[in-house]
This record gives sequence, structure tokens and C-alpha cells, in this order.
Amino acid sequence: MDVKRREFLLSSALYPIALSAQSAPRVGTASIGVGNRGSYLLKTILEQSNAKVVAVCDIKRDRLDRAASTASRDNPRTYVDWQKVLEQKDVQAVFIATPPYLHSEMAIAALKAGKHVYCEKPIGVTADQVSQLIAAAKASDRIFVPGQQLRSLKSLQTAIRKIHEGVIGDVMTIDAQRHASADIAHDGSSSDWYFDVSKSGGYLLEQSVHNLDLCNWVMGSHPTGAAGFGATLRYKNDPPGRTIFDCGTLSYDYPKSLKLSFSQNVFHPRGLSNPGQYIHVFGTKGAVDLLAPEATAYPLSGEQPTVLSTKAEDQQGAHIAAFYASILAGAQPPADVTIGATAALTSILGNDAMFQRRVVNWSDLGVDV
Ligand SMILES: NC(=O)c1ccc[n+]([C@@H]2O[C@H](COP(=O)([O-])OP(=O)(O)OC[C@H]3O[C@@H](n4cnc5c(N)ncnc54)[C@H](O)[C@@H]3O)[C@@H](O)[C@H]2O)c1
Repeated sequence: MDVKRREFLLSSALYPIALSAQSAPRVGTASIGVGNRGSYLLKTILEQSNAKVVAVCDIKRDRLDRAASTASRDNPRTYVDWQKVLEQKDVQAVFIATPPYLHSEMAIAALKAGKHVYCEKPIGVTADQVSQLIAAAKASDRIFVPGQQLRSLKSLQTAIRKIHEGVIGDVMTIDAQRHASADIAHDGSSSDWYFDVSKSGGYLLEQSVHNLDLCNWVMGSHPTGAAGFGATLRYKNDPPGRTIFDCGTLSYDYPKSLKLSFSQNVFHPRGLSNPGQYIHVFGTKGAVDLLAPEATAYPLSGEQPTVLSTKAEDQQGAHIAAFYASILAGAQPPADVTIGATAALTSILGNDAMFQRRVVNWSDLGVDV
């Protein structure tokens, strides 16, 4: 029997799994933080035949009530104190979708309480938080999956595999951006934490962590250093007390002198060319437009472009389904603590470079990934 599955079955004596009428195993699940993302996760959890929502938790009563109503099929208990959730014996797995500065503390406590953990990105906002979570996940026999759900998209898996197989020769540089036409709503439901860099980590960590993770995936490595500049130019002190930048440009150095150039802003008008997000990967024989609806390779020779993969291959909720498959069948999760940590640290490296206005080396972070 697979080691992970055997471990799960053994440990289920301590934390008994819920049984449906057909006696199919259903993992007792708790959702901690049921705001925007947590609500989406909750709906997707309910679509999994091997999950039972036994608890929902939020400090905001209206969200807690809404979540309880969404999951009424499973009649979950409600909690405002997340630590109480971790004491519950019928909770085998927790989803954490609270503001980023709380992720590491909650995930570490959950792992120590013997729970499997799906933790939203970024897994920490400081190198120290990330380091402590790496240690806790590595010391635990529970499954830990970061919410880097792009890792579960077949279209990206296929396109990046073909890049690694040499469709554009050897990768040399990446040119990438994450632009938006506006900030998130200044009076919206996440405004109590999002604009405070100590709580969200700022745009580079809270949003671009997905894009930088893809760049690391393509490069097959993490950067060795970063330099760059950031500023608040469009939304100065808006909302009042704001400490996150609204734009920045970064240059990352990778092993073998490979380069990543990254741009972020929240004032890119919709009609202007190259809106939103792109990742252009340049190799010795051509380039790939990775985030196009059809990821496409353009040969330097002038030959016809080749479609590498299409988004039609992708399945909604695949990352969450993979989390349960890892718990119940011992399958290797598509993203683990190393991937989540490396992605977060790549953003933290860029933030340090922008805020300190100097070249920052990966080794300066002091974390062994
Ligand atoms: N993977 C993705 O693509 C994706 C997309 C959106 C958001 N996210 C991530 O999800 C997380 C949440 O983002 P959001 O947009 O849902 O924010 P949100 O503000 O809508 O939700 C956060 C929720 O956490 C609750 N909360 C705060 N402190 C708590 C505590 N101590 N105990 C219990 N609940 C607490 C809040 O009341 C709120 O309901 C962030 O880390 C964000 O980066 C990920």
C-alpha cells in the first residue's frame, strides 16, 4: 500500500473520517476565512464527492452565516475562533483563506494539530513566516497544498513541459507583467487588510505571486537575486494610510545568468495594447506566449507558430480535487510547501529590493527552501 495512504488510514483511527450512506470516505473539512476566496473554495469543496464540510469559521458574522447557508447540505458547525476549529476531532482537513499575514500561524497550528492543510497564497508575508511554515510542513506527515492553483492547469503543465523539452531551445529570458486597470475597491470587503503592506505583502506578493511562480516553474529554479523600483504614483495615500505600491518594475537574476523582467501596475487602461497579464519566454530557437488562450511557440527561423496547449484542457477545481486525492490516495499534490514557499520568497525578494532600493540576493533571505 502506498505510504501516504497507509499513514492516512492509520491516522484516521485518531481522527475518524466521516462515512456517507455508501460508506465512501469523506474527509471532514473546515473552512477558515470565508470571504471572497473562501466562499469560492467552499463551493468547490462541496462539489467534491469525498469531502464533508463539518465546520466554517470567520470573525465576521455575516460571512459566517452565509457560509453556513452555502454548506447547509452538510450542516456545518460555525466558529469565530479558528483555534477551536483545530480542536475538533472530526476535522481532518482545513482550508485557510484569511488575509495573508495570518496564513503561516494558522497553517502551522493546523499541521501541529494533525490536520491536512490547503493554505491560500501567499503562504507568508515575511521570510521568517515562510521559513517556520516550511519547517512545520516538513516535520508533519499531513498533506500541505498552497493555493497556487495554476500548478493544476493541464494547459500550463503541457506548455511548460514542451518548453522544458526544448521547443524553443534553451530558455534565456522571460518578459512578464501583471497589470490591472484599477486597484481593488477602496471601500470593498478586503480593504481592511489589502492596502497595509504588513498584512497583504502588497501587489507583488498578494497578486503577482502567481505570475512569479509560473516564471520559476519555467526557469526550473528560483532567482538568485533581484533589483527594482516601486512607487505609489496613481493612488497616493489613497485609501488613507496606504502602504502598498501601485506600480513597480523588477529585474530578477536566475542561475546561469537567465533573466526575468517583471512589470506591475494598476493603471493600465483596458483599450491599451498588452493589457492584463502575459509571460513571454525567450529561448535560443524562439519564444513562447505562455498565457495566451492557446500557448504558442514562435520559431526564430520564421517558420509557422505552433500551438503548445489550449485552455480547453483545464478543469475548474482541479487543485482542490488534487488536494483530496493526495489525502485519500496518497497522490503527489501538484504543489507542495516548497513550491508555495519559493513563490512567496520570490515576491518577498522583489519587495525587499523595491523597498530597500538595492540588489537583494536570495541568500539574504536566510531561508533554506
Ligand atoms: N488563489 C487565488 O487565485 C486567490 C484569489 C483570491 C484571493 N486569494 C487569497 O485568499 C486570501 C483571502 O482573500 P479574500 O479576497 O477572500 O479576502 P477577504 O477579505 O474577502 O476574506 C478574508 C476573510 O478572512 C476573515 N478573517 C480575518 N481574520 C480572521 C480570523 N482571525 N479568523 C477567521 N477569519 C478571519 C475575514 O473576516 C474575511 O471574511 C488572500 O490570501 C488572497 O491572496 C487567492
